[in-house]
Amino acid sequence: MDLRFSFPATTTSRVRIGAGVEAELPAAVRALGADDVVVCCDPAVAAIGNRIGAALGARAVLPVAGGEDHKRLDVLGRLAGELLRCGASRGTALVAVGGGSISDLVGFLASVWMRGVPLVLCPTTTLALCDAALGGKNGVDHDGIKNLLGCTRQPDLVLGDTDWLETLPDAPFREGFVEVVKKAAVLDRARFAELERLAPYLFARRAPAVAEAIAMAVAMKMAVVLGDERERDRRRWLNAGHTIGHALESLAAGTLRHGQCVAMGLVAECRAAADVVPAAVTQRIAALLQAIGVPSTVPAELRDPTALWARASKDKKVQQGRVPMVVPHAIGDGVVVELTPERLARAFA
Ligand SMILES: NC(=O)c1ccc[n+]([C@@H]2O[C@H](COP(=O)([O-])OP(=O)(O)OC[C@H]3O[C@@H](n4cnc5c(N)ncnc54)[C@H](O)[C@@H]3O)[C@@H](O)[C@H]2O)c1
Repeated sequence: MDLRFSFPATTTSRVRIGAGVEAELPAAVRALGADDVVVCCDPAVAAIGNRIGAALGARAVLPVAGGEDHKRLDVLGRLAGELLRCGASRGTALVAVGGGSISDLVGFLASVWMRGVPLVLCPTTTLALCDAALGGKNGVDHDGIKNLLGCTRQPDLVLGDTDWLETLPDAPFREGFVEVVKKAAVLDRARFAELERLAPYLFARRAPAVAEAIAMAVAMKMAVVLGDERERDRRRWLNAGHTIGHALESLAAGTLRHGQCVAMGLVAECRAAADVVPAAVTQRIAALLQAIGVPSTVPAELRDPTALWARASKDKKVQQGRVPMVVPHAIGDGVVVELTPERLARAFA
């Protein structure tokens, strides 16, 4: 016998972001039809998690420390045990409250717990609102490799209240917008120009500018993800800045945040591909990052092309020994080039 069966995707993912939308969460979660909910919450935003837990009548509010260090398989295993002990079932929805490390970890847990349960993401950082909570990638780091274990699975609901950002310190607040700059740099010239206009207001944390930048991020990311959920083609473009960025993050061993590394990676990748990226384009990107308040200069102790190449060449994105990266040959117009040791050395020459 030789039969073929198709299972057309039927996933719908709702994204609701705005000031004061926390009040809509109970109705939005009810609409998912889950039996009950468990909230997994970063203790840094415990007040929000506890409030959400109470409003949803959650079975439990489980603390999960945020930060890359905790995005691990053993933490996932511990949470799975806690879900079991609090009586969660196949009908339990998981609600993740926190930044990108929490949405990645809890997103993966919701994919594998009892072979998959409904997932609600409540992103509390600009980075998670602009990127991590969108698009369905989740996972944990393993054996020193970022996101080595994970899967693609869209959240049923992303609900982000921009008021939750109030407690986020300035540096991580601003770094979240690097993800919007990155997308516009390779995908959308008009939005890049709009970000240049918004930059001083983003720096000053003005609510209308913040909402507009997040809306741009959602529009650009979801347009790409809808056409290429499994990252076979266009979705790779969203990795601009991440080839050198991830290598820097690994070399920095916890001393730099993800957003800082992507900002540095974005500019370093443009410099590395100086044969493709005009200097004026690189300068415009560096100037926009600076106007938002995110430095893009790699610290001297990390300017080590050999150590960075050792890491970049082990990245998940490597295909048959080739290390692809996407750079803008004009603002809003990306092109795939190959990172080589020579190019990497040029980034820091
Ligand atoms: N899945 C994806 O598509 C995707 C995309 C981009 C990044 N990511 C992942 O996202 C992670 C980085 O995201 P992040 O910067 O949001 O990380 P994070 O979750 O580690 O949060 C950063 C820090 O901010 C704290 N925090 C969170 N919300 C806060 C608030 N409102 N007030 C005060 N402090 C708060 C956290 O405790 C943590 O210390 C990385 O693990 C990265 O790999 C995933």
